Amino acid sequence: MNSRVTQFYTVVLAQAVCIGVGLWMEQCLLRHGLRQAAGQGGAAFTGLSLLPSALITFLWTFALLTITTYLVLRRSEDTLDHERTRSASERLRQTQTLVRTRDAVIFALAKLAGFRDHETGGHLERISEYATLLASGLRRHPEYGQQVTPAFVRLIGLAAVLHDIGKVGIEDRVLRKPGPLTPQEREYMQRHTVLAGGCLTEIAQRLGSSNFMHMAADIALSHHEHWDGAGYPHALKGDNTPLAARIVAIVDVYDALSTPRVYKSPMPHAECVATIRAAAGSQFDPELVRVWLALEPKFWAIAQQHLKTLDGDRAPSIAGDAKPGPAPPCQEPVAEPVLMTVGSDWDR
Ligand SMILES: [Fe+2]
Ligand SMILES: [Fe+2]
Repeated sequence: MNSRVTQFYTVVLAQAVCIGVGLWMEQCLLRHGLRQAAGQGGAAFTGLSLLPSALITFLWTFALLTITTYLVLRRSEDTLDHERTRSASERLRQTQTLVRTRDAVIFALAKLAGFRDHETGGHLERISEYATLLASGLRRHPEYGQQVTPAFVRLIGLAAVLHDIGKVGIEDRVLRKPGPLTPQEREYMQRHTVLAGGCLTEIAQRLGSSNFMHMAADIALSHHEHWDGAGYPHALKGDNTPLAARIVAIVDVYDALSTPRVYKSPMPHAECVATIRAAAGSQFDPELVRVWLALEPKFWAIAQQHLKTLDGDRAPSIAGDAKPGPAPPCQEPVAEPVLMTVGSDWDR
């Protein structure tokens, strides 16, 4: 039964009991008054002589009604509060389950697409962690702090894994080619950004207001754009490239540089640092590179951690650094930084 109806019937019942008790008390007092009048040898029995007993009865009934109504209402409020709390927790639990399911499905989708590629195992997991780490580092940045909310940090960790999902539309002969790509093949490969961007934008439009899908579409379309406008597919310059895509651009390149691929060996961490530093202002947003440089030991630590998890001790070290222990500090370049261009093969 509806709790409000139950509350109504309980109050009515309580009031009826109180009135019953009051009437019963009045009858007792009335009989007592009559007996007293008879005992006084037939003295006049007036309404005035009954006034004290009627007053007592009224006060009793009123007090009983007030207390009972208060207790009933309070109990009902407690019950309603309990029900509200329980349904809110249930809704929260269902939402969390849905979000976890969504995250798992998206990750699985990205993994399936990644099986066709020849990137190092764990690439998507690392990209997710790297993007979250760099976005967290921007939270206190004077320029980007406002844009990078906790929700932004949470979303980019998942949206980043879809950055190369457009590669499902690229033929194996190009996607899995171990050697360098020809200019035509490179141009064909670059279509993966437009394919994914178009697909994810369409989904975002269908969903309406989905921050996640909009961010995923931005990243997929623009993660190969360069700060100086030399990137692809639209040669966007500076902050015309969405911030999420600029973040993923750096972390994707760091992962590509620091891990072995079919077409190249891993680069030592210090060289990765030098290469990314050298690309500040040309390929990458210089402010993001500044934040990345402050965090680079943590990037190295994540890379090492993933290597241990995936391959155990027998695997070659990521970033060519076999030394265990804490991450090395940011150092001056130990080798000439690699010149990065749009056509660099590691930048596929
Ligand atoms: Fe890509
Ligand atoms: Fe990638």
